Amino acid sequence: MKYAFPDNFWWGSASSALQTEGAREGETTWDYWFAREPNRFHNGVGPQQTSTFYQHWKTDIQLLKQLNHNSFRTSISWARLIPDGIGEVNPEAVDFYNQVIDELNEQGITPFITLFHFDMPMAMQEIGGWENRDVVDAYARYAQICFELFGDRVLHWFTFNEPIVPVEGGYLYDFHYPNVVDFRRAATVAYHTVLAHSKAVQAYRAGHYAGEIGIVLNLTPSYPRSQNPADVKAAHIADLMFNRSFLDPVLRGEYPADLVALLKSCDQLPACKPEDGFLIAEGKIDLLGVNYYQPRRVKCRDSAVNPQAPFMPEWFFDSYEMPGRKMNPYRGWEIYEPGIYDILVNLRDNYGNPRCFISENGMGVENEQRFIENGQINDQYRIEFISEHLAWLHKGISEGCNCLGYHMWTFIDNWSWCNAYKNRYGFIQLDLKTQQRTIKKSGEWFAATALNNSFDKE
Ligand code: BG6
Repeated sequence: MKYAFPDNFWWGSASSALQTEGAREGETTWDYWFAREPNRFHNGVGPQQTSTFYQHWKTDIQLLKQLNHNSFRTSISWARLIPDGIGEVNPEAVDFYNQVIDELNEQGITPFITLFHFDMPMAMQEIGGWENRDVVDAYARYAQICFELFGDRVLHWFTFNEPIVPVEGGYLYDFHYPNVVDFRRAATVAYHTVLAHSKAVQAYRAGHYAGEIGIVLNLTPSYPRSQNPADVKAAHIADLMFNRSFLDPVLRGEYPADLVALLKSCDQLPACKPEDGFLIAEGKIDLLGVNYYQPRRVKCRDSAVNPQAPFMPEWFFDSYEMPGRKMNPYRGWEIYEPGIYDILVNLRDNYGNPRCFISENGMGVENEQRFIENGQINDQYRIEFISEHLAWLHKGISEGCNCLGYHMWTFIDNWSWCNAYKNRYGFIQLDLKTQQRTIKKSGEWFAATALNNSFDKE
C-alpha cells in the first residue's frame, strides 16, 4: 500500500542545543552536575563535547539537506545567549544562532526553535530554578529577547520541550539535577513552568511577530490494564498528572478541575496568586508538538501505600507490564505504534483538533556498529519503527486529525543526558573519536520518503 501525505507535510528531525552544540560560556545544571557526579552519566561522558554542532553547523545543515528535510527543530541555549540567565546578551551566541537560522532558511529548511530543552542556566538554578518566580520573569525576558533577535526569520517557536521531564527528573525520580524527591516542590516547578510558558506566549502576542508559538509535550497515552473501575481510575489519574497537567493549560487555558481537586485533597497544591488564572488563560498555543516514544500502562495499586514514604504519583497506580508487549530493550521503553493514532484522536475529539505535528519519535539502539554492512549501518529496525508509526499517523490524518508533520529524534547521533552515547538515535552515525558523520540506511529511507511525500509498505 502507498501511504501518501498531505501537501507541505513537514518532514524533518529534532535535536537540542545542549545535546549537540558542545561547551559554552554559560554553565547549565548539566555542566554543574557532571563536574560533581560524573558517575551519574553513562561511561562518565558529559555535555562538554556532544556532537560539535557549534563547529560543524554548516556541514550538518548540508546533511539535513541531503536527508531532504524541509524543517528542523533545535533549541536556543539560554545559558549560551545570556550566560548568567538575566544579564548581558552574548554577541557571539547571537552570531551563531543568526548563522544557523539563516543557513537553514537559505537551504529551504524551515527552522523550528525551542526556547528551553532541559538546560537551566546554573545561575538561575542557584536562585531556586523554577521554584522561584523571579526565574519565571527571567525566562520571559529571555524569550522576548529571542523573539526580537530572531523572530523575523523564525516562524515556529516552542516555549518548552517536554516540560514534565525536568519535573519528573529533578523533583520526583532523581534523574536530573537538583535530584530532589518532593511532590509539592515538583508541583510548584510544573506550575511555574506553565506560568513561564504563558508569559512567553503573552510577549509573543504583544510583539505581533510574524509566526506562531506553541509547546512540545511528550504525551504518553495511559492505558488501564482492564476496564475494571479501579484500573480505569488509576489510568485517569496518571493521565491527569503526566499529560493533562500541561495539555489542558496550553490548549484549554485552564487546569483540569479533577487534577486540582485531587492535589488539594492531598495538600499538594502549589501556591497560586489570584492573577495566575488570567495569565494561564493567555497561554493558549497556535501549534502543538507531540513527542511520542512509549505508552503508559497502569493498573490499580496491589498494596497499600506506606504512609511514611514521600507522597508520589504512584500512590494512585502501579505500572502494568502487558504480557507480549513489544520492547526497545536498550531504552526499556515499550514500542506501541497505535499510540500515535490514539493521541491524535484524543486531540481531535477532546481538544478541538488543534494544529499539531509529531515533533519527536525515535528508537535508541545500543552498539549499532554491529549492523555495519559495507561501511554503513543497516538499521532496518529503525525503518520499520518509523514506517509503522507513520502508517498509524496516516490513518489519523485520513480520519481528520490535524497533524501537519513528522520529525524524528534525531538527525545525528547525539548526547542523551544520563545515557550519554549509550543508545544511538540518529539518521546519521557519529564516530565519537573522529566526529565523522555517515548516513545510515534509515537516513536514505527517510530522504526518499520526504522527497516523494509518501512511502510504500505491505
Ligand atoms: C526526549 C527528549 O525525551 O527523548 C530528548 O526531548 C531525548 O532530549 C529523547 O534525548 C530520547 O531520550 P533519551 O533519554 O534516550 O535521550
